[in-house]
Amino acid sequence: KGLRVQDKGFLNTAVIRSEITYIDGEAGVLRYRGYPIEQLASHSSHLESAYLLIYGSLPTREQFKHFESEVMRHGVMHADTEGFFRSFRYDAHPMSMLTSAFSMLGSYYSEANPSLQGQRLYTNGDQASLATMDRQIYRLIGKATALAAMAYRVRQGRDFVTPPVGLSYTGSFLYQMDHLGEENYTPNPVLEKALDVLFLIHADHELNASCTTVLQTASSLVDPYSAIAAGCASLYGPLHGGANEAVIRMLVSIGSPENVPAFIEAVKRREKTLSGFGHRVYKTSDPRSFIVRKTADEVFKVTGRDALLETAMALHDAAMKDEYFIKRKLAPNVDFCGLIYRAMGFPMDFFPVLFVVPRVVGWLAHWRQMMLQEGGVKIWRPRQVYVGAGKRDYVPVEQRV
Ligand code: CMC
Repeated sequence: KGLRVQDKGFLNTAVIRSEITYIDGEAGVLRYRGYPIEQLASHSSHLESAYLLIYGSLPTREQFKHFESEVMRHGVMHADTEGFFRSFRYDAHPMSMLTSAFSMLGSYYSEANPSLQGQRLYTNGDQASLATMDRQIYRLIGKATALAAMAYRVRQGRDFVTPPVGLSYTGSFLYQMDHLGEENYTPNPVLEKALDVLFLIHADHELNASCTTVLQTASSLVDPYSAIAAGCASLYGPLHGGANEAVIRMLVSIGSPENVPAFIEAVKRREKTLSGFGHRVYKTSDPRSFIVRKTADEVFKVTGRDALLETAMALHDAAMKDEYFIKRKLAPNVDFCGLIYRAMGFPMDFFPVLFVVPRVVGWLAHWRQMMLQEGGVKIWRPRQVYVGAGKRDYVPVEQRV
């Protein structure tokens, strides 16, 4: 009663004040804590930007050393996890495994059950509670690579490997994925750097569907492992993180540049979706798409050009000059990075996982901010406008027609 406003898809609802990520969708601007994404992609690393996103400022040398060593130290998984991964069907989608694995993580830590501890787990200024929060952050960022690599290796029929010592966050991830027992394995430095840049630009994007899901879930004061599992589930969908997999499936189905015009017409008749195009906030090219293109050039020098690239470029050019897309301000988003992942040898259904691993950082930054906000957390409980039946009386089954 009295409720009139309906904002389907939250087009015009702001639920929180945030200091983390700034987007100007009209101008194509993205900044983490005030720093332009282009500067960070050129000069920072994924883990340094993770510190920035979570704690608000670029770390000093000492702060970074501590953060890196804590994250890497927490990257090791309990041996039981092996059985957990082996219990999935041989062809399970890695995102199903990863979503379940984040939830499973909470079962290892008693502090994950907030009702055991009293409701207010985290308090600004209370060192013990902040230390608990930091530990949860280190664990989730550290273990994200281990869980992702396990989901990959179990599908490949490979044994699991312990995270190595002495490699970067992204280098360690590549090692955990690819290491087959070779002595002195080191990942290709160009591919390691490229993946690190892609991780960095995927680390946060303010209140996208998955981040909103994490905050909505955490607003009941559930543990962060469960909240991250919920975010992972939300990201899986093809309108969000599943789009990088959908882009490649779409390009494979188009097959070659001469089939592009027919595909574009099918999109305009609303029979198909042009995955990798369009965005709720950007009404011009996503600034990350330029970084993706530059990174692709570096990667293709090592791996060779992907056979789907010509089709992708023909599709891009056709859409950018078609009235349907111009009128709706539809431009490329970040999801053409699937072409890079494919060139690097990742299987298609692993692409959304490559989105989750870095996005854990953004989810945690927003979760930390919300948990420590002034006045405490308010449970997210929207209202609805009920339009269903009025009161009616139960009819026994034998009287129903
Ligand atoms: N292909 C064809 N038409 C489109 C597309 C597209 N990719 N995106 C939007 N439109 C049309 C849409 O049909 C609508 O037309 P009309 O006004 O005539 O009904 C108009 O453009 C406005 O779009 P919308 O659906 O109202 O926009 P939204 O903000 O609700 O949705 C989106 C945003 C990203 C879900 C959508 O653009 C889309 O489905 N894109 C394809 C999937 C994709 O690439 N997702 C990744 C997004 S970026 C990374 C991430 O967040 O994970």
